[in-house]
Amino acid sequence: MTQTIHAAPHDAVAQVDKAEYDARYAASVADPESYWREGGRCIDWSRPYTEVKDTSFDEADFRIRWFADGQTNVSVNCLDRHLETRGDQTAIIWEGDEPGETRKVTYRELHSQVCCFANVLKSKGVKKGDRVTLYLPMVPEAAAAMLACTRIGAIHSIVFGGFSPDSLANRLVDCDSRLVITADEGCRGGKRIPLKANVDKALDHAPGVDTVIVIRRSGADVPMVEGRDFWLHDLLADASPDCPAEPMDAEDPLFILYTSGSTGKPKGVLHTTGGYLVWAHTTFRDVFDYRDGEVFWCTADIGWVTGHSYVVYGPLSNGATTVMFDGVPNYPDHGRFWETIDRLGVNIFYTAPTAIRALMREGDSWVTKSSRKSLRILGSVGEPINPEAWDWYHRVVGDRRCPIVDTWWQTETGGILISPLPYATDLKPGSATKPLPGVQPMIVDAEGKELEGATEGNLCITDSWPGQMRTVWGDHDRFFQTYFTTYPGKYFTGDGVRRDADGYYWITGRVDDVINVSGHRMGTAEVESALVAHPKVAEAAVVGMPHDIKGQGIYAYVTLNAGDEPTDDLRAELRQWVRKEIGPVATPDALQFAPGLPKTRSGKIMRRILRKIAENDTSNLGDTSTLADPSVVDTLVAERIRPA
Ligand code: WTA
Repeated sequence: MTQTIHAAPHDAVAQVDKAEYDARYAASVADPESYWREGGRCIDWSRPYTEVKDTSFDEADFRIRWFADGQTNVSVNCLDRHLETRGDQTAIIWEGDEPGETRKVTYRELHSQVCCFANVLKSKGVKKGDRVTLYLPMVPEAAAAMLACTRIGAIHSIVFGGFSPDSLANRLVDCDSRLVITADEGCRGGKRIPLKANVDKALDHAPGVDTVIVIRRSGADVPMVEGRDFWLHDLLADASPDCPAEPMDAEDPLFILYTSGSTGKPKGVLHTTGGYLVWAHTTFRDVFDYRDGEVFWCTADIGWVTGHSYVVYGPLSNGATTVMFDGVPNYPDHGRFWETIDRLGVNIFYTAPTAIRALMREGDSWVTKSSRKSLRILGSVGEPINPEAWDWYHRVVGDRRCPIVDTWWQTETGGILISPLPYATDLKPGSATKPLPGVQPMIVDAEGKELEGATEGNLCITDSWPGQMRTVWGDHDRFFQTYFTTYPGKYFTGDGVRRDADGYYWITGRVDDVINVSGHRMGTAEVESALVAHPKVAEAAVVGMPHDIKGQGIYAYVTLNAGDEPTDDLRAELRQWVRKEIGPVATPDALQFAPGLPKTRSGKIMRRILRKIAENDTSNLGDTSTLADPSVVDTLVAERIRPA
C-alpha cells in the first residue's frame, strides 16, 4: 500500500481546493473553448482575442492555434504591467557561485535594463523574427536578454552553457542566428567555464554570426574581435531606456529551444507568444500556489525549459520574486541549498530528483543545521522521483510541513501538465498525481488502443493545450511525424505511465531511445554519432542504465576498427571525446568494447538486448534466435563492465 498524504490547508486559505480543482477540470474538458476564453485573460492583451481554440491533431487538418487574433507582448506582461503596483519590489534575486554573492534587481530596474538592452539589439540590426542565440551563465542579464528579445519580437534560442562549441555551432546554424549573447566566463562550483572562448571556436563553424555581445561575469581577460565582439556595458552606456514594445500576434514565435529526441540531431522546439505565456503564467500561479511577496527559487538553468518557464516567464508574469542561482548544489558544501534558503527567505523551492538524491546521500545533518522555516512548498521536476527520495525531501527538507508538487512535463509542453495542486490534491510519494485543467491524458497500448482504469502503457495527450509547442524549427513535417504519427490523432509524449485505481498517474520513464541523465535529455543517436566520429570507432550503440544518483546513466558499446586495440587508455579517450563533442552531460558512464553488436539478419541493432546487459538483467534476454550471430551476446554478457 502506498501511503497517501492528505492535502492540508495552509494557515492561509487554499487558493484552489479540491472542489475547485474538480470543478475547473470538469469545465476545462467539457468546454475548452469557454474555459480558455476566460483563462486567457490572465495576461494583458494589447488587442483582445476573439478566437480561442483552433486545433486538430489529425493529419488532414493538422493545426495548433490559440488566441490567434489577439496581440500581446511578453516583456510588457513580465515588466510594464507591474510597474505601478510593484515597481520597487525585487523581481530577481541573483545568488552567485559564492554564498552571499547576491544582487537584487527590482521590477523598475529590470524594466529599464530590458529597454536599454532591446535598444542595443536594435542598434545591431536585430529585427522582429530574427534569431538571437544566448550562451550564458545564470546572471540577471540573461533574463534581461531574454526579455529584450521578446520586447522587439526577436526569437531567442538559449544554448545551455555546458554544451560544447560544436553543439553550439550546430544550433547557431540550424536556426540561422546572426547574433550571440555570451559572457567572458561562467563561474560554477569554484571552476571557470570559458564561454567566450567556446563561442570563438563555435563561430569557426557558424559563419552566419556577425555580432557577439559579451557580458562581464568573471572579469577574465578575453580576446575581442574588432567589429564583431562588443562588451554589453559599453553598448548599454549609450542606450536609451525608452523602447516601445512590439505588438506581437499570439502565434508569433517566442523562442526556440533545442532538445534531444530518439532520432537524428536535436530539434528546435518552437513556442509561440500568447499560448505559451498563458500556460507559463497559470501553471506557475496554481501549481506553486504563489502568494504576493513570496520568494520563489527554481534551481534549473535557463538553458533548459524549466529555466524558461519557471525561473523567468512564469514568475515574472505573475509579479513574483524569482531567484537566479549561478552555482551548484554541492559548492562550497552540501548544505548550499538549505543555507541559501534561510539567507534569502525562500518560500517555494523547485529542484530535480537527481540533486535530491545526491544530497540525501550526504546525510541529514547538512539539512537539519538550517532552519528552513520560510519554506512552504517543495517541487520536483525532470525525471521520476523515487519514493525514498520523495520521503526524504518531505520529511527532512520540508519537516513534513510542505506539500511536494511532483510536476511532469516536457520541453514540448511549454509548462507543467500533470501535477498536484498544493492543499487540493492528496499526495502519493512518486506520483505526479493528476492532470491540470485543460490536460487530457490517455494511456494506450503498443497498437494505440485506449487502456481504461487502473493500467499501464504509453502516455498520450488527446487534445491541445495553450502551451503546446507549435513546430520544429525549419521542419514542420518532422514535428508532425515525431509526435502525431505513432498514435494517429494523439500527441505521443515518449513516456511510459501507470494509472492507479484512484486515477493517479505514475510516470515510469521514457519508452523511446531518449536517456534521462540527471534530468537532462540525451538522444542515444546523438551520443552514437559522436562516438563514430572518432577515427578508431567503427560502430557504436548507446543505451540507458539505472543510476543511483542520475536516475539513468549512459552505457555505450563500441566496436573498434580492425587493428585498433581496446585499451583502458582508449576507453578514457573515447569518454573524453564525447564530452568534448557534445558536452559533459553526454559523457558515457560505462563504455564497453564490443567485438560485435547483436543484430538481426537485416542489420538492425537489437537494443532491447543491449539494455538488458547494461542493466545487468541477463537471466532473461528473450528471444535471441533472430540474431544474425547469437554468440555475440555471450561475449557481451561475459565482458559487461561495472560502471564506476
Ligand atoms: C521526464 C523537463 C517523471 C519525462 C521539464 C519527460 C519526468 C522528460 C518528470 C522531459 C516528472 C519530466 N516525473 N518524469 N515529474 N518531469 N520528466 O524536455 O521523461 O527536459 O518526457 O523537460 O523528462 O524532459 P525535458
